[in-house]
Amino acid sequence: MVIPSAPGMRKHVQNLAVIGAQWGDEGKGKIVDLLCESYDVVARYQGGHNAGHTVKFADQHFALRLIPSGILHPDKLCLLGNGMVIDPDALLDEIGKLRALGVHVEDNLKISDSAHCILPYHKALDLAREETAGKAKIGTTGRGIGPAYETKVSRYGIRIADLLDAVVLRDKIEFACAEKNPVLKTVYGKEGFDPQTLIEAYLRYGEILADRITNGTVLVNQLIREGKKVMFEGAQGTLLDVDHGTYPYVTSSNTVVGGVCTGLGVAPKHIHEVIGVVKAYTTRVGGGSFPTELENEHGEHLRKRGNEFGTVTGRPRRTGWLDLPIVRTSAMLNGLDSIALTKIDVLDDFDEIPVCTAYKVRGENWNTYPSFAVEHQEYQPQYRTMKGWKTSTVGITNFDKLPQAAKDYIRFIEDETEAKVSIVSTGPRREETILR
Ligand code: GDP
Ligand code: IMO
Ligand code: MG
Repeated sequence: MVIPSAPGMRKHVQNLAVIGAQWGDEGKGKIVDLLCESYDVVARYQGGHNAGHTVKFADQHFALRLIPSGILHPDKLCLLGNGMVIDPDALLDEIGKLRALGVHVEDNLKISDSAHCILPYHKALDLAREETAGKAKIGTTGRGIGPAYETKVSRYGIRIADLLDAVVLRDKIEFACAEKNPVLKTVYGKEGFDPQTLIEAYLRYGEILADRITNGTVLVNQLIREGKKVMFEGAQGTLLDVDHGTYPYVTSSNTVVGGVCTGLGVAPKHIHEVIGVVKAYTTRVGGGSFPTELENEHGEHLRKRGNEFGTVTGRPRRTGWLDLPIVRTSAMLNGLDSIALTKIDVLDDFDEIPVCTAYKVRGENWNTYPSFAVEHQEYQPQYRTMKGWKTSTVGITNFDKLPQAAKDYIRFIEDETEAKVSIVSTGPRREETILR
């Protein structure tokens, strides 16, 4: 596979975290792929196949779910960290699909032995809860992510290492079925699972994955000691963090940069730079508050022009104007060194582009996200209206070639968030990028 390079690659520090700064789907896949060239290792630290990271170059299109976007570069080592929840069936499916597209997935993909497994009862519980929750449903991806993290925290989880131990696996699956089947049957009226069938299937997954399973924490720390450069690839987004996001409409992991430390066993001093990926407007999939949401023709235009449909579920994404209190909150939580601003080209047609600079909540101004407002939806977004540029920015690779109004838009974001925009993305492809 021939991979065209991005123009004028920037110089890199040793280890870099690339984090979604909004509600996910900011374009992390593109940015990780773009910067990958300068790194030796790409590691995921949280989440599972709820993620959908799209990478496009030349005429090829890849949708990564569990596997780091670095896999498209055959000389990079990719690691699924201990903080992830892994559905082995989904992982094998993804490996198969990538191989069918000519991607090298051999000993360049390793799995931490202490990552947790998603089992079919997790998925069944996720779906059953959503089905019965009515208006209170979260709008999950239905992949079993939340229930798998619950089992992990309850200390009864099945870890990847357990797939290699028939005695431990049998005990754990029998216990899990004895506990989960009655809940599925009596609370939700669903079928339970036969432990023997699950034991056989998961032992088989262990056999197939055995060569990839390793102590991921020791591996990544060894590589760092050897001076290898590691990129930490975030999934979901900061506002979906279980502690800091718009709870309860969040995912079940720590998406913020702190998750790198726990989800890979990497000490904070080894994270040298943090880039927040920010979409030039805002999108969200699933339920929960969305102060700048546009349920009108402008929102429809953003969805159509930005192709805002889920990579994993195909669901139409909710769309709205850029929300700076959210980006400021992300800058604070992640200590952002800079911003990669994506999809600026999607704004090309607007006469005017409002940007939310603060919220008014009960007469008070908030310039970060007020957590209590999530439940009550009492915030009123305060907008500053920027001039549109009404000309195509698609594929521009030089900041000076951007129309003045687009430069003003970018500089306004920098002023308001006190974070430099180091990358501007002007299209889905690797080449369609401005590096500043
Ligand atoms: P991720 O989950 O953060 O990796 O983002 P997704 O891949 O789910 O969604 C981002 C979508 O926007 C993908 O379809 C990308 O190909 C596309 N994309 C990324 N950057 C740009 C850009 O600058 N302009 C346009 N038009 N599309 C982009
Ligand atoms: P990437 O990595 C956008 C959302 C779901 C739902 C909530 C909980 O592609 O940015 P879950 O299945 O995780 O329990 O769902 O989180 N969600 C995402 N939204 N991008 C994602 O990933 C997401 N992963 C989960 O829509 O609202
Ligand atoms: Mg996505």
